Amino acid sequence: MRVLVVGSGGREYSIGLALKRDKNVEEIFFAPGNGATMELGKNVETADWEDLADFAIERGIDLTVVGPEAPLVDGIVDIFRKKGLIIFGPTQKAAMLEGSKIYMKNFLKRHDIPTAAFLETEDFEEAAAFIEDMKEPIVVKADGLCAGKGVIIAKEKSEAKKAVMEMLSGEAFGDAGKRVVIEEYLDGYELSVFAISDGENYVILPAAQDHKRLMDNDEGPNTGGMGAYAPTPLIDRELYAKIENRIVAPTIKAMREEGNPFEGVLFVGLMIVDSEPYVLEYNVRFGDPECEVLMPLLKTPASELFFKAATGDLKSVNIEFYDKYAVGVVLASENYPYSKSKPAEIIIDEIVHKDLAEHAHISFAGVSLIEGKLYATGGRVLVCVGTGKTLQEARDYAYLLTGQVHFAGKKYRSDIAYQALKSR
Ligand code: AMP
Ligand code: GLY
Repeated sequence: MRVLVVGSGGREYSIGLALKRDKNVEEIFFAPGNGATMELGKNVETADWEDLADFAIERGIDLTVVGPEAPLVDGIVDIFRKKGLIIFGPTQKAAMLEGSKIYMKNFLKRHDIPTAAFLETEDFEEAAAFIEDMKEPIVVKADGLCAGKGVIIAKEKSEAKKAVMEMLSGEAFGDAGKRVVIEEYLDGYELSVFAISDGENYVILPAAQDHKRLMDNDEGPNTGGMGAYAPTPLIDRELYAKIENRIVAPTIKAMREEGNPFEGVLFVGLMIVDSEPYVLEYNVRFGDPECEVLMPLLKTPASELFFKAATGDLKSVNIEFYDKYAVGVVLASENYPYSKSKPAEIIIDEIVHKDLAEHAHISFAGVSLIEGKLYATGGRVLVCVGTGKTLQEARDYAYLLTGQVHFAGKKYRSDIAYQALKSR
């Protein structure tokens, strides 16, 4: 099988790694890929999605897997399907679950799926009146995609009103902020649950936990994610059943009934409050860095899983996971997440320790190949992933690997998976 992976991050690299160890896959392409995906396959540059679809036809691509949300919200799946190609991901309409917070919140309300109480509006006076009646802190969200930055948690009402004003005026996020959602603050712990669906059937992957804050102990600004691990012991059978029965199953069913069957990865961002799950958000793709810890756990060939999900045939695959844990520690560049950093050469020590070589690997993200040398050129540079029979073992391997990787300004959190290890 020839597979095309759309995207350029650590998530797409980890999908590439899973495809690389899959015997059904003969060739992998990345569009656009990064400085390290070239080692797994070929990188391709194209002008737009139409152009990429034509490339896929020319090269006899059997399956396309889409990593990030932007191409999905743009309608890449619709474009590829129209040309008769097989592509794993939701259509533009189904991708609205991530593309518009207002669509998502109203969908949840319509189907009685638990979420924080909210108001959607484009009117400042209405927003201000709603805020007056709320308890602090207050959450303000821009409607559209803001690359993970469109959420403000305001400690005080005045701060919430200011955030609304800045969003509605277009000052903060342009058109993406011209409608806002104001919602109650949920105090609990966060979990990410991923389900792969073919529109009707679904399979839930081992639950992962991301670490969004930049610094240890969940301090500092929000980032795209500084590390993740799976499966998490923070979810027991009872909670798992609640998440499946109250959230995942009703979502897949409702999307189908509304005429937008959801095919692809449904990523449910949850807040668990007193053992009850609430939907914070949906994403319509794998999380990054969650994908980097889920792919190593996948026993079923990745191409089979994605192909069957993309062709409405998920029922016919027996999806299996290894009985082990994976921990991923993100190494970020000096100025992440504030501003760009100077390119820094990456030096990786030869791994002579046999166990480490066997239990740890790197998923490359913000890297470029410049004159044959690998440079850190992005915010999140790479993820050191460790696997093991226990979470502690997986974490130890991941951290051992971080010591083998060097670049100027390298920074990372030293406490990935702390909540899980503390809870024992
Ligand atoms: P979102 O993009 O909606 O997931 O929001 C980004 C982050 O903001 C989440 O991962 C949470 O940490 C936080 N957040 C969003 N909504 C709420 C809420 N209603 N209560 C508490 N925290 C929230
Ligand atoms: N790690 C969170 C995300 O990918 O949105």
